[in-house]
Amino acid sequence: PCRQLWSVNVTFTDFLIDSLGYSQPRLVGGDNPCSGRVEIRHGETWATLCDAHFDIKAASVICNELECGRALSTPGGAHFGEGHGLIWTEELQCVGNESHLAYCPRISHVNQTCSHANDASAICSRKNSLVNGSTVCSGRVEIKVRDAWGTVCDSHWDLSDANVLCHQLNCGFAVSAPGGGYFGKGTGFVWTDTFHCKGTEPHLGLCPVTALGASPCSHDNDASVICSDKCSRNAGLMTPSRCDGRVEISLHGVWGRVLDDQWDMNDASVVCRQLQCGVAEKAYNPPKSGRGTGPVGLRSVQCAGNETRLTLCNISIFETAQAGITEDVGVVCSGSRRIRLANGPGRCAGRVEIYYNGTWGTVCDDSWDLPDSNVVCNQLGCGHAIDATVSAHYGQGSGQIRLDDVNCSGNESDLWDCPSGGWDQHNCRHKEDAGVLCSEFTDLRLVSDSDCAGRLEVFYNGTWGSVCHSPMDAATRALICKHLDCGDSGILEKDFTYGIGSGPTWVDGIRCDKQHGSLWECPSDPWNQQSCNRGQETHISCEGQEKLRIMGGNRCSGRVEVWYRGSWGTVCDDFWDMADANVVCKQLGCGSAVSAPGEAAFGKGTGPIWVEKVNCRGTESSLWDCPAMPWGESNCDHKEDAAVNCSGDYPTPPSDRQWESHGACCHLHYPGSPSLSAVNHSGCAGAEGQGTAQRWVLIVSLSEMSLQ
Ligand SMILES: *[C@@H]1O[C@H](CO)[C@@H](O)[C@H](O)[C@H]1NC(C)=O
Ligand SMILES: *[C@@H]1O[C@H](CO)[C@@H](O)[C@H](O)[C@H]1NC(C)=O
Ligand SMILES: *[C@@H]1O[C@H](CO)[C@@H](O)[C@H](O)[C@H]1NC(C)=O
Ligand SMILES: *[C@@H]1O[C@H](CO)[C@@H](O)[C@H](O)[C@H]1NC(C)=O
Repeated sequence: PCRQLWSVNVTFTDFLIDSLGYSQPRLVGGDNPCSGRVEIRHGETWATLCDAHFDIKAASVICNELECGRALSTPGGAHFGEGHGLIWTEELQCVGNESHLAYCPRISHVNQTCSHANDASAICSRKNSLVNGSTVCSGRVEIKVRDAWGTVCDSHWDLSDANVLCHQLNCGFAVSAPGGGYFGKGTGFVWTDTFHCKGTEPHLGLCPVTALGASPCSHDNDASVICSDKCSRNAGLMTPSRCDGRVEISLHGVWGRVLDDQWDMNDASVVCRQLQCGVAEKAYNPPKSGRGTGPVGLRSVQCAGNETRLTLCNISIFETAQAGITEDVGVVCSGSRRIRLANGPGRCAGRVEIYYNGTWGTVCDDSWDLPDSNVVCNQLGCGHAIDATVSAHYGQGSGQIRLDDVNCSGNESDLWDCPSGGWDQHNCRHKEDAGVLCSEFTDLRLVSDSDCAGRLEVFYNGTWGSVCHSPMDAATRALICKHLDCGDSGILEKDFTYGIGSGPTWVDGIRCDKQHGSLWECPSDPWNQQSCNRGQETHISCEGQEKLRIMGGNRCSGRVEVWYRGSWGTVCDDFWDMADANVVCKQLGCGSAVSAPGEAAFGKGTGPIWVEKVNCRGTESSLWDCPAMPWGESNCDHKEDAAVNCSGDYPTPPSDRQWESHGACCHLHYPGSPSLSAVNHSGCAGAEGQGTAQRWVLIVSLSEMSLQ
């Protein structure tokens, strides 16, 4: 699910840097993406592997990671031809059942004597995720979801999703994403899961997914993809977006920079054409921070503009550097245009923003209406428009105002195809930014007087309605409570405990299991206004969860706060001592206690004082295991709030963190430290809480790596 670099077994929001190595594998040189020479990503290049350091167990992990079935054999001696460039200096010691190569232990061989004549290869049992196509890089999409192979429903399958799959299969980029069983009907499951890929994810498994309420789908609607194929891609943009970024070119299998200080629109047009990215919108030289560092492929390119490939232009290859001509080149092609809804409560509601000419901008609300909004919702796979919002309803944006006086008929496939004043032509300010609320925007709430118990309601198609409770097992209840930030388990209450609902009864038959990261990923019956009768509405009470945090100090010193009965509260300092503090420090992953201050040493808390007379032995693994007065019955005052000073084993990471949810995966970024990020496999719920127990895996960006 979450691709990661290496794993550090630290609980808590923060972590320790250990070692690093990004280990995305690929198989090249075979006649399909599931057999070939083993190559492992090393920064922006790929390294081959010594056959003496590679075995069938490592091959199994690679075949599995590439969704290529089982490993059949591991021919050595450059069976699929010799690679170029780096040779990996580590031996992989996989057990064979690791989900990613990154999890395999390695030992380093510093003085190895391997050459490319010893390149390792692997042959896997399954040829492809693409079935029945005319080439290995086209066909009906078959994917493995939760251990079963199935086809994909075409209802929301789009070019961005297809792009991720093509890239993942080492097949270049997506040329088209036909539906309707274009490459014949499959058998077995049809996954109705909807992928919401941006197009830049390295793997389909990293795209957010929704499944709740999806309509049934038959093999008549099997999705397909036609990729550009693995050989055709000999110019590329070193960027997350396929059609926008710094240009590199592959000459004889080696990627190199393109340098030119007279780079113009004619040159950019050729790149956009070659990449099948539409027309050029911008030709530029990236600023110093965006320049490449690798070998140089081409210099001084002069195109007429109608060439089909960059190498057909007037060029000089590997020419010695001339003074002044050292600038990398970049392009923005029209194929990079994108749309998103910003600053809203979800993917399908928010301020309309368009990516054009390399930057994000907004849309003015003059004559903004439902047909315009419909085009936006459609374009985003968000159903139809419920509301066209004006006057910066979802906040004021920044940057350019891209479109004004938009006048769609509603049938256009992209907002920029609608009549309007033209790009960047407007008489508006950002207080007029347009927004939309689409029918596929979903939300969840509890209706009652308390925070973590009540009648469950879901927002869909513009209306709040009930959730029906068959079968609603423990795993489903757990996800619901987690979603509501109310712990991780819940019980169903009977007999209209929280009143009778009105409005639709939206959904029934929700079946989550523990592999689902959020309620929206769980399969269910399709959305239906009358899913059940009133007696089957869900009334749920979420139980508390052991959660501990430190406030008012830093990560490992501060006031102790505990989560109980759905809210944060403090601990009274009666009997508070080093043994108690030790348990807290350990539970926080902060080493051992240095002192156990009382009397609100780190300030008074607010809310309830949940427990007093805590009397740990010091060996307990959790504060909840320590003897104490019954929880919730304290008579203390906040001036008696207990605190800890821990030895603090872990460095405090930068405080300016931002997170982004991708289905089950939470990605953490530090804007001030772009080389640092982290992934969490249990989603973003609680990421904000300073002390929520989380398992994070730290990632140091590729550019920080040195080669050998
Ligand atoms: C390419 O080079 C030739 C010979 O120097 C020149 O005649 C031609 O105009 C050049 N083409 C472009 C597009 O600059
Ligand atoms: C490009 O245009 C020039 C004249 O404008 C023409 O001579 C040349 O054949 C064209 N090249 C291609 C590849 O179309
Ligand atoms: C919008 O387009 C329709 C035709 O589709 C036209 O009749 C109408 O005048 C246009 N409105 C504006 C404000 O341009
Ligand atoms: C959603 O609302 C539209 C009207 O806005 C209606 O036509 C459609 O049937 C509704 N969908 C469901 C599943 O109720």
